[in-house]
Amino acid sequence: MVLQSFIVFEGLDGSGTSTQIKLLQEKLSENKTWITAEPTNNETGLFLRKMLKGEIKIHPKTSAYMFATDRCEHINGKNGILDQINAGKLVISDRYLFSSLAYQNQDCTWDLPYNLNKEFPLPEYLFFFDMAPEKSLERVFARANKTGEQTEIYEKLDFQKKTYQEYKKIIEFYSKPEFSDMKIIVIDASKSIQEIHEKIWSIISKLPILEV
Ligand code: TYD
Repeated sequence: MVLQSFIVFEGLDGSGTSTQIKLLQEKLSENKTWITAEPTNNETGLFLRKMLKGEIKIHPKTSAYMFATDRCEHINGKNGILDQINAGKLVISDRYLFSSLAYQNQDCTWDLPYNLNKEFPLPEYLFFFDMAPEKSLERVFARANKTGEQTEIYEKLDFQKKTYQEYKKIIEFYSKPEFSDMKIIVIDASKSIQEIHEKIWSIISKLPILEV
């Protein structure tokens, strides 16, 4: 099932999704949009952030369940994705189930994350930020050096290279006719921030929900 007015940004760590979401946030009225992200700010998401920093160690299968749990509440919980859409808002999420398919797939095969996530609604638009893992990871490290921010357990070249391959397979899988209600837009994430923003804005600004 595709949820209209639901937009998802996906890509490797460092591919620029958060920067683009911030630019959109500056242009879009709060009355009409809900900008969100996964992992969420709920307790489940905070647990996952600790796991990502390596402060909590769990089995890779448990991570797949945890990300799906966090997502289930993100979708169905009070003031979550469904509530916001039903209130007439455009919802934009930085990451969604495609991250689980790309990242959790590596340690526990496609079946577990796929089965845990297959009942969740698909977005109307999936923007995939396409960037070579060497380049996106370079950005992650440059940012960490600048801010002193700790890097996360998945931010390693071998892992990101595999994640990139998984994303490519996911795009192919969801390009099948049975999923044609979800529009997939591949963004060349090596382009300038402004160019990427203009491309995204040319699509989002025309959405009927933003009219009036
Ligand atoms: P990210 O979105 O880059 O946020 P931040 O910049 O705040 O660290 O990081 C989230 C990490 O979580 C990223 O490495 C991908 C990972 N992740 C999964 O492995 N599975 C998932 O289902 C989701 C939503 C994220």
